[in-house]
Amino acid sequence: MIVNTELENKGNLVPSKIINFKKDVDTLYFSTENNVVLQLTVLRDSVLRFRYTTTGTFENDFSYAITKYASTGYNHLEIEESKTDYIITTNKLICHISKDNLRVKLYDAVDNVLISEDETGFHWEESYQYGGNIVKMSKVSKDGESFYGLGDKPSHPNLKGKRFENWVTDSYAYGKDSDPIYKSIPFYTGLHNSKAYGIFFDNTFRSFFDFAHERRNVTSFWAQGGEMNYYFIYGPKMTEVVESYTDLTGKPHLLPPLWALGFHQCKWSYYPESKVKEVTSKFRDLKIPCDAIYLDIDYMEGFRCFTWNKEYFPDPKRMVKELADDGFKTVAIIDPGIKIDHEYSVFKEALDKDYFCKRADGPYMKGKVWPGECYFPDYTKPEVREWWSGLFKELIEDIGVKGVWNDMNEPAVMEVPNKTFPDDVRHDYDGNPCSHRKAHNIYGMQMARATYQGLKKFAYPKRPFVITRSAYSGTQRYTSTWTGDNVATWEHLWIANVQAQRMAMSGFSFAGSDIGGFAEQPQGELFTRWIQLGIFHPFFRVHSSGDHGDQEPWTFGKEVTDIVRKFIEIRYQLLPYLYTCFWKYVEDGTPILNSLVLYDQEDVQTHYRTDEFVFGNQILACPILEQNAKGRRMYFPKGNWYDFWSDEIVKGGRELWVDSDLDSMPIFVKEGAIIPKYPIQQYVGEKKIETVVLDVYYKEGKEKSQLFDDAHDGYDYTKGRYSLRTLKLTGKPNELIIQQHKEGKFDASYETFEIKIHGLPFEISEIQVDNVVIPLERIETNGISTMIINKEFSELHLIGTL
Ligand code: GLC
Repeated sequence: MIVNTELENKGNLVPSKIINFKKDVDTLYFSTENNVVLQLTVLRDSVLRFRYTTTGTFENDFSYAITKYASTGYNHLEIEESKTDYIITTNKLICHISKDNLRVKLYDAVDNVLISEDETGFHWEESYQYGGNIVKMSKVSKDGESFYGLGDKPSHPNLKGKRFENWVTDSYAYGKDSDPIYKSIPFYTGLHNSKAYGIFFDNTFRSFFDFAHERRNVTSFWAQGGEMNYYFIYGPKMTEVVESYTDLTGKPHLLPPLWALGFHQCKWSYYPESKVKEVTSKFRDLKIPCDAIYLDIDYMEGFRCFTWNKEYFPDPKRMVKELADDGFKTVAIIDPGIKIDHEYSVFKEALDKDYFCKRADGPYMKGKVWPGECYFPDYTKPEVREWWSGLFKELIEDIGVKGVWNDMNEPAVMEVPNKTFPDDVRHDYDGNPCSHRKAHNIYGMQMARATYQGLKKFAYPKRPFVITRSAYSGTQRYTSTWTGDNVATWEHLWIANVQAQRMAMSGFSFAGSDIGGFAEQPQGELFTRWIQLGIFHPFFRVHSSGDHGDQEPWTFGKEVTDIVRKFIEIRYQLLPYLYTCFWKYVEDGTPILNSLVLYDQEDVQTHYRTDEFVFGNQILACPILEQNAKGRRMYFPKGNWYDFWSDEIVKGGRELWVDSDLDSMPIFVKEGAIIPKYPIQQYVGEKKIETVVLDVYYKEGKEKSQLFDDAHDGYDYTKGRYSLRTLKLTGKPNELIIQQHKEGKFDASYETFEIKIHGLPFEISEIQVDNVVIPLERIETNGISTMIINKEFSELHLIGTL
């Protein structure tokens, strides 16, 4: 149901005149004649929080999204007054609050340009039906303004002109523009006149965003309950906005184990054990790299979580160990629905301890999922999360399963019209009791959090790996995610691309789609094109519903198998590059995938691009999204780009045709980049890495690249045992200098770098490594100049004759 926001709509109430204000350390309280209070907190120079109440008092200030690790602590709040406004100034922002009606205007403090302005601003409607207020905010939207973000919406990346709803929903075979689907990430970035700002509406009730859809010059957002509580995040760079939002809602607590960035094979379902082994052996026989194999619901006894079907899997511990010996990490699914069965220990324990969700007037929340009638743990209660985390002991510590996949956690309920719990179900909400209307959007997040706690405990000293389907802002702290039950169509390949980019600009980079499509079966060509895209998605997994035929890399004949192998091998070669990007994401919240608008917001050509993206900040990729295509047109951001396959240099800032037969894909490397590569391995850790390739792409000018490394699992890196190499390239017409600076205490297994220089415009006459001349015979040249040097070099200097 969509609530009409139009002001003419009876019932809309607005704040009246400010009658007083109070100042705290970093917070101001403005009260109006009609009892509205605006609580304005300055979190940082560029982050302001706006919180409104209509009753004079605020609710308990509690959020699942905001992390305690966010940088805050502003303490030099200054307020001034003009005739009409109160004015708060930080180094980045000037905020005006109208004395007449509480409306807000925000200006860039450096150049005084207006960035955002309330239209009606805060307003509300008292709702008899919901027992509270529908809280609303409307802002002026400028011509030429663009909007991005909102999580997993399967729509055009630029949200302008559209309306969306946030209510996490099990959405089998959703399509383009389906809304809402699995995730609720009420955060968007606005971009106007090269200045980007973000709005995070931290309200877990069913919420709506309207981007100049209902009225051309108004953007609004509202929720069916709770408080108007939003954060205004200023850039002006879009990347800064995304980083600040990610800081606020949390960067991943830990790096994933490196194997989790390898290739994953999944299906509903691989069973019995012999089938699992048949699949894993085939990967090894065909030499297609793979790190993870999945067990979907059929591994369980009658779909009871934390049990095993002993007929299919007589000795799971032995099987998991044998798979591990062959380099496969086993990932098992765990759903929230607990089968009503008084002989089943998990059910009995939760019942005894009163851990299941209940309806408003007392009975348990009963709903049908895979096992039949189920009850559902209330993960919003700390004690329940603690109990749930303990359930993983056997699966993880004893049996040796390495990752857990949380599904159906919207929560999905079958055969009911709304596909989930009724609104009246009660939740603890960490000591802030509420109904499902408030807890629905965070239920799956809290389940994934509890699962993460379990894995953290029982996988120790290894790092946890969790996947979730449902998510609210902040879920990225604990888990990875996939985009749910998509379909094997070309349109869905487009959707997968957009969703992964959108998730990254919504603070959640560790995401991917069911490669090949979950429902229906792809042709070999579609499967190939999807794998090509998938090698750039941080979460890289093939999954299918299983009832439409097979979907392993060898299903579609030799040609497809060979191409798919080639691309998965590229993913494995790029692992050190991806791992470094992941580290930057964990460290600074920097998105791993960058839509072109994130990469270069100054270039208006990027504002409506959908297909091209930059993987990390140096590899430009563009999937082929059409059947029988032998290439495509694509936009190149400004700068020079090397063709990954041919080293041909393309000048950016324009759209060009790129040839790309089925065995290829448009991939380009930014000039000046230094891309680290591993040798091809069948799984992470298969080989002792003896040397790391550094692909150096010559540029006349400067460019900085980085290489992060650690033990690829475990916690040592958090105690300083990592290495971060910063590589600075300086290119001149007849010189190339690479300087290396290293920090951290980790010493990798390899001793050397194999340096491969692409695009060198001169012939080398002398090479110096740390001021020592090395013999030219040590260089191989045939287009690419290759040399092996000690990894601890400080400066490599190539001198040439023009
Ligand atoms: C849901 C999931 C899917 C899974 C299936 C069976 O449809 O989205 O990935 O395979 O349930 O567990």
